[in-house]
Amino acid sequence: MRKTAGDPKATDDPRLAAGAETSSAVRLDDVAVRFRTKKKDVTALQDVSLDVRAGEFVAIVGPSGCGKSTLLKLVAGLLAPSSGEVLLGGERVRGPRRDIGYVFQRAALLDWRTARRNILLQAEMRGIPGAEARARADDLIRMTGLGGFEDAYPHELSGGMQQRVALCRALLHEPPVLLMDEPFGALDALTREQMNVELNRIWRETGTTVLLVTHSIPEAVYLADRVVVMSPRPGTITETIDVGLPAERSYATTLATAEFGAATGRIRELLGAVSAHE
Ligand SMILES: Nc1ncnc2c1ncn2[C@@H]1O[C@H](COP(=O)(O)OP(=O)(O)OP(=O)(O)O)[C@@H](O)[C@H]1O
Ligand SMILES: [Mg+2]
Repeated sequence: MRKTAGDPKATDDPRLAAGAETSSAVRLDDVAVRFRTKKKDVTALQDVSLDVRAGEFVAIVGPSGCGKSTLLKLVAGLLAPSSGEVLLGGERVRGPRRDIGYVFQRAALLDWRTARRNILLQAEMRGIPGAEARARADDLIRMTGLGGFEDAYPHELSGGMQQRVALCRALLHEPPVLLMDEPFGALDALTREQMNVELNRIWRETGTTVLLVTHSIPEAVYLADRVVVMSPRPGTITETIDVGLPAERSYATTLATAEFGAATGRIRELLGAVSAHE
């Protein structure tokens, strides 16, 4: 889908408007990553160029070990490219970036803290004033349907709820860019669908740019504006698919659309062709 000037998502969020005018939110220019270990050298990524617009939702799919997590780590500044350039908000990434949100495959919550205090950890680490952080946490708790569970400890929450807490924590400081590495992999199918619907709504409400790594083709297509399909190691971008669906997507009707069928079909074809050569 392409957002137009008339799209409320494009006009309501100042970060979107500013980002759209000045530069892309995330940019990788001819990036390569080589790991040197004692036993062997591994080229994880090669010739990777990607331009993500502010407010855009990009999903990344590809076989295991093709460099998806490596790509997210580059954007977060946790890893430096061996060659090429990574830019965040038009600025070259030179070290760990604080202006991003990162959601991992496992919720990684602190057992001894309640849901709210796990979310507020982000504020404590960043020195965000208490009252402001608490108000924002309450908003996010409401937005993600965690109301009533603020004071529960992680072991008292379901897997989906724990993942929601992790999502709230990643969004607390209103990051312009949210990086998600297989965040729903450990959830059952139904909870995963609910989280997909939730994430679509949160993305529309916050205007955050999202890079999501997933192994689920339907999840990638349901959520994203574009899906990046990667080849096996050394990971390169095989093809980028424009999904062509509106930002607001009802789950049931979206899955029945021609656009959804075409995009999932093409990605399956690409990944199937990829594994046939492995
Ligand atoms: N710190 C490291 N040192 C050495 N090799 C590494 C390191 N991190 C990743 N690799 C290698 O780089 C390649 C890409 O790893 P990466 O974790 O990015 O894959 P992935 O696409 O996220 O896989 P998965 O879908 O299984 O999570 C793999 O071959 C991996 O062994
Ligand atoms: Mg990974």
